[in-house]
This record gives sequence, structure tokens and C-alpha cells, in this order.
Amino acid sequence: MEPILQFENVSRSFHKGRTVIPVLQDVNLSVNPLEFLCLVGESGCGKTTSGKILSGLLKPSSGRVLFKGQDVSTLRGDDYRGYRRSLQIIHQDPYASLNPTHTIYNTLSYPLFRHNLVRNRTQARERVAELLTQVDLTPAADIIDKYPHQLSGGQRQRVSIARALTTNPSVLIADEAVSMVDVSIRIGLLHMLMNMRTNLGVTIVFITHDLALAKYFAWDGRIAVMYLGRIVEIGSTPDVIGDPQHPYTRVLLSAIPEADPEKTRSKQHIQLRSEDIPALTDLPPGCAFHPRCPWFVPGLCDVHVPALARVPGAISDADVACIPLTEGVPLALHTP
Ligand SMILES: Nc1ncnc2c1ncn2[C@@H]1O[C@H](COP(=O)(O)OP(=O)(O)OP(=O)(O)O)[C@@H](O)[C@H]1O
Ligand SMILES: [Mg+2]
Repeated sequence: MEPILQFENVSRSFHKGRTVIPVLQDVNLSVNPLEFLCLVGESGCGKTTSGKILSGLLKPSSGRVLFKGQDVSTLRGDDYRGYRRSLQIIHQDPYASLNPTHTIYNTLSYPLFRHNLVRNRTQARERVAELLTQVDLTPAADIIDKYPHQLSGGQRQRVSIARALTTNPSVLIADEAVSMVDVSIRIGLLHMLMNMRTNLGVTIVFITHDLALAKYFAWDGRIAVMYLGRIVEIGSTPDVIGDPQHPYTRVLLSAIPEADPEKTRSKQHIQLRSEDIPALTDLPPGCAFHPRCPWFVPGLCDVHVPALARVPGAISDADVACIPLTEGVPLALHTP
């Protein structure tokens, strides 16, 4: 199966004065058609930057982005417009992303007219009503002429999702798209996103800092765990969650409370060697996680940058960026 989107050795840096901030480094990633891929990691690890590059809003500093096998930097004219329409991003904050002076009809019909997807107002109203129904804002007639402030937070987020659907995208990138709403509303939104995959045939890239969300909602998909601008583990959700390989994934999972309090009490909480996250402008040599890693191997982890590979003998299907694991060096837990 040809991936719908690919990163080939993608790096991205930003300049602040004379300082160069390496935000993404040498990221390789394939997104398969119709999958639910979750990008997880702590704040600042480069999730939004990855999402923006995936959706074409930002260009990589080096490396290539492929859409259906084609280097997107070579696309021109209709091909380029088609690619940009096929990828839509839902941003985190529906307050900031919806214009308060526009009705829902105005907001949703604008891209329809701009991309020549409707010819007149009657067609536009019909299509907007259909989009509202797709995101479970029903009856659409009650919503279509309202302003954002007349809707609840959950309803506004559904409008943002409907707007992303206006161009019939094949890939939706949901960047913390459910983080701003209450837990009760979050679950409904997540189910809706998952159903879109089957009902509308869209691939979902779901970006979150919350591994617990990935754990519950991306079960038949994959998880990519990011740390300081690199992917450190990527595999099917049940394998990454049920049998985490990379030390960082193990640490993240050990911090998630279980539904059963007894399980939480008996769960081993893995202690980091250091709580301090290195600055992107002052990254440690070798594996960026080594100063915090409880299984750090001196002379190896602080020297060589690990590449993603399978762990020999592991049942998990995940690729992991950890030299001791992928080269079969025995691990010993450092106790602080
Ligand atoms: N335009 C920019 N100029 C300078 N630095 C930037 C820019 N955009 C992002 N960064 C920096 O890049 C790093 C990664 O940012 P990014 O927004 O991708 O992280 P994130 O994983 O999405 O974090 P969060 O969970 O907080 O949303 C951060 O340190 C951020 O300050
Ligand atoms: Mg972000």
C-alpha cells in the first residue's frame, strides 16, 4: 500500500536573531491511507510543526514531503491546489479560528465558493447543511445562521471540523482538536472523528500531548511518540501501549493513571534521572533523552544518535530509536 503522506528526512529549524532552533530533526514518517495515526509527545517536541509541514502550511528546512508518492515541492498549478485542498488542519482553539462577525453559513460557504465547489447560494446552503449534519450539528437549520458566540465550545469545535471538511480532504490533521473542550464533549468529538474515517474515507493524523487519549481512541491505528524533534517510537497502538519499548514511552505510560485505582497503586512508576528537559538550542550529544533516561548506557547513548529500527526478538511491531535496544545491549535500570 502506497503511503498517502510521507516525510523523508524532514528537518525544520527556526531562526531567532542569530540563534538557530532545530525544531524537527531528520523525521521519517509514512501515513497510510485511511489510518488513524496519533502523534504524541510533551509540549514543544515539534507536534504542531510536524502537522503544519504535513498539511503544507510550512516548508521543511531540508528533506522531502511526499503526497501520494509525489514530492510536494515539485507540484504546480492544479496539482498543487489539489494537494493543498486534500490536506486540512483543525487547529486547537475554535475561539481564535472562527471569525466572531461571520455566521456559520458565511464561515463554511467561503471556502466552497473560493474553491468553486458550489455555483450559487442555494447550492452553498445545501452543502453547508450537509456539512453541519456530518459533524452532528443537527438540525442544521438551527445552527446555520448563528454566530460563533451563540454556540457552545463543543459546537464551535464541530464547526471548525466542518470547515476542514468543506474541501473534501483526504487527510485531516487534528492538532489538539479536542483539548479545549470538556471531557464529556471530547469523547463525542473523538468518536465523530473516528467515524469520519469510515464514512467519508479520510485519513486522520491526531496530534495530542496526552498519551491517555491515544490509548483509548487510536486502538486500531498507530502511535508515533516524539521527543525533542524526533520520533522515538512508532508502531501499532496496542503494541506501543501494551508493550512499550523505548524508555521514554515506558516513562510516559508509567505516569498515566489507570481506571482501576488498585492498578494505579501497583503500577511501577519509573523515575527519571533528571526532570529537566534540555533546550532545543542546547541539545545533548547522542540520544537527546540520555540525560533523563533511567536505562542510560554511558559511552553509547551519549555518543551516537539512534535511528529508528526494530528491536531484535521483540514481539512488538514498533520501530524504536534506542541504540542499546536495537543493538541488543543489556539494559540496567539506574536507581536515583
Ligand atoms: N515560528 C517559530 N519561531 C521560533 N520557534 C518556534 C516557531 N514555531 C515553533 N517554535 C518552537 O519550536 C518548538 C516546537 O514547537 P511546536 O509548536 O511544534 O511544539 P508542540 O509539540 O506542538 O508543543 P505543544 O504541545 O505545546 O503544542 C517549540 O520550542 C517552539 O517554541
Ligand atoms: Mg502544538
